[in-house]
Amino acid sequence: SMPLIAAAELTFNHTITGEALDLSDAEGADTPAAQHFLETGENLYTEVPNCLAEGEQTFLASCSGCHGHVGEGKIGPGLNDDYYTYPKNKTDKGLFETMWGGARSMMGPHSDLGVDESLKVIAWIRHFYKDDPAEATWLTEEQKANFEPYDAEHPTSVEATGECKVPEG
Ligand code: HEM
Ligand code: CA
Repeated sequence: SMPLIAAAELTFNHTITGEALDLSDAEGADTPAAQHFLETGENLYTEVPNCLAEGEQTFLASCSGCHGHVGEGKIGPGLNDDYYTYPKNKTDKGLFETMWGGARSMMGPHSDLGVDESLKVIAWIRHFYKDDPAEATWLTEEQKANFEPYDAEHPTSVEATGECKVPEG
């Protein structure tokens, strides 16, 4: 039978200081996707069509003023290409840590979004990626094979046709 041992949660660290981020009272930590992410660092919302629209709306409200409407870069760096100042942002765990704790200068913490909503924003950021899927270390091999680089010249939203539900593990 299965041993009754709770899955160990990962440690999340501030992108600049390396200090542990406190996720103990985090909002939105109780959804299946949030639980899975806190245990594994995997974002189950990646390329799930019904989960992208909300992430886009939150990105437009909280991020695009500095990073551009499709992450093309503005006062903050571009988030739609294969180069990151902090290489760990090429993993979803790293990108989450940068969002949650902030980085330098104008890049403040965005922990007010909560865990679940942050994962939807991350899924949207991964969706508007415009470069070579081979460099998309955050995608699974299967996702890489099916990924179409985003057309930043003709940006399109992904309309939800139903509830945002994660694939059953
Ligand atoms: C850096 C994401 C909101 C300004 C970054 C980086 C990420 C990121 C991933 C690191 C990029 C890299 O490694 O190349 C986000 C997300 C946001 C958000 C997802 C919304 C939740 C904002 C806002 C501002 C801002 C509102 C301006 C007030 C900056 C600046 C940097 C940066 C100036 C460079 C900081 C550094 O290099 O240490 N952001 N950001 N960001 N962001 Fe944001
Ligand atoms: Ca970049």
